[in-house]
Parts: sequence; C-alpha cells; structure tokens
Amino acid sequence: MKVLGIAGSPRRGGNSDLLLEQALAGAAEAGANVEQIIVARLRIAPCIACDGCWTAGRCVVQDDFQDVYEKLIVAERIILATPIYFMAVSAQLKAFIDRCQCLWARKYVLKQTLPPTPSGEPRRGALITTAGHNVPAGFRCADTTMRYFLDTLDAEFAHKLHVGDVDEKGAVRKRPEALRAAYELGKQLADSG
Ligand SMILES: Cc1cc2nc3c(=O)[nH]c(=O)nc-3n(C[C@H](O)[C@H](O)[C@H](O)COP(=O)(O)O)c2cc1C
Repeated sequence: MKVLGIAGSPRRGGNSDLLLEQALAGAAEAGANVEQIIVARLRIAPCIACDGCWTAGRCVVQDDFQDVYEKLIVAERIILATPIYFMAVSAQLKAFIDRCQCLWARKYVLKQTLPPTPSGEPRRGALITTAGHNVPAGFRCADTTMRYFLDTLDAEFAHKLHVGDVDEKGAVRKRPEALRAAYELGKQLADSG
C-alpha cells in the first residue's frame, strides 16, 4: 500500500510538517510504503483554465505537477497537510489542487474512470490542518476543498485532524495529544482495508 503525504506549508519543519511526519510514521508502522512531497519546493504554476485537459484528461502545462500527478494516481492513500492561511489552504497547496482540474475534466467532461490502484485497494484520503486560531469555522474551507479534491480521484475522505492554537513554528511539539493523533491517523489510514 502506497501512502503519499503532500506537505502544503512553505515553512519547513513547521506545525503541519511535524504532524505529517507523525502520520507517515504511523502509516509506515502499519506496513505502508510512504512517500512525502513538499509542494513549496516544486515548480507548480497555477491552473490557467486553458481547458487543454478537456481533450486528453491530462494537464498540458509542463512543470513539476506532471511528476506529482503520476504519484497521485497510483497512491492508495493520500494525506494532505496544510497550515490555514486566511481561513483556507496554503497558496502552494491550492495551486497544486487547482491543477487537478485535469482529474475533474477526466471524470466529468470525458466521463473516464481512473485506473484502479496497483493493489486494487480503494483510494482514501486524510487532511491535517494547523492554525493559530481554534474555531471550528476556520477549518471549514480547507475541509470543503479537500472533499472536492478527493472527489476527482473517487477517493473517500476518511480522516481529518485539525489542530488549532499553534502559531509559532514547532508549537505543536508541546501538544503530545496532537502528535499522537496524527500518528494514529496515519496508522488507521494505512490499516483500513
Ligand atoms: C499568510 C498566513 C495566513 C494565515 N492565516 C491564518 C488564518 O486565517 N487563521 C489562523 O488561525 N491562522 C492563520 N495563520 C497562522 C498559521 O495557520 C499557523 O501559524 C500554522 O500553525 C502554520 O503552520 P505551519 O507551521 O505548518 O506553516 C496564517 C499564517 C500565515 C503566514
């Protein structure tokens, strides 16, 4: 089972990174083959709405998105981790998600189904968010974006972990319950058949 972790923060070693690290450790403990992608390190341009994907179901813009796309469609499990920026996901992660418009076109315009995952396991996803605030409404936008992102992959939204009250870099280190919850999230995601 392949678990792909997508780190959405431009702040390396920050709160969402630390939680993603825990989640991937939990998934590895459950026997998964884990890989992490750091979107802020990649060259992924925003979608330009050229509708190039309406013909072939693939994005025609040639940049690092192409490699991530290949990994995305063969992963049985996907974990997105992001800080909340202005009540939404980070701009780096949003650019990546918007480029998945090719998956939307594939499903809803071309009416094509994705090939099954290599193991035949259904696709499932989990979302990890961190924020300075601690109000449920602050995570709603990221939740909705995640739901529609996973829909393009016909993936189930299986788990979420929202950790508020963490603003400084690494503040989540003082929240052992959150680190443990992230570890368990990764383990359960990889365990679920
Ligand atoms: C550009 C920017 C926008 C932010 N917007 C919000 C926000 O809308 N609500 C909030 O609670 N925190 C906000 N924050 C704080 C981050 O969500 C918080 O520090 C988070 O833990 C950072 O995660 P990271 O360390 O993984 O980058 C913002 C931070 C930045 C840099």
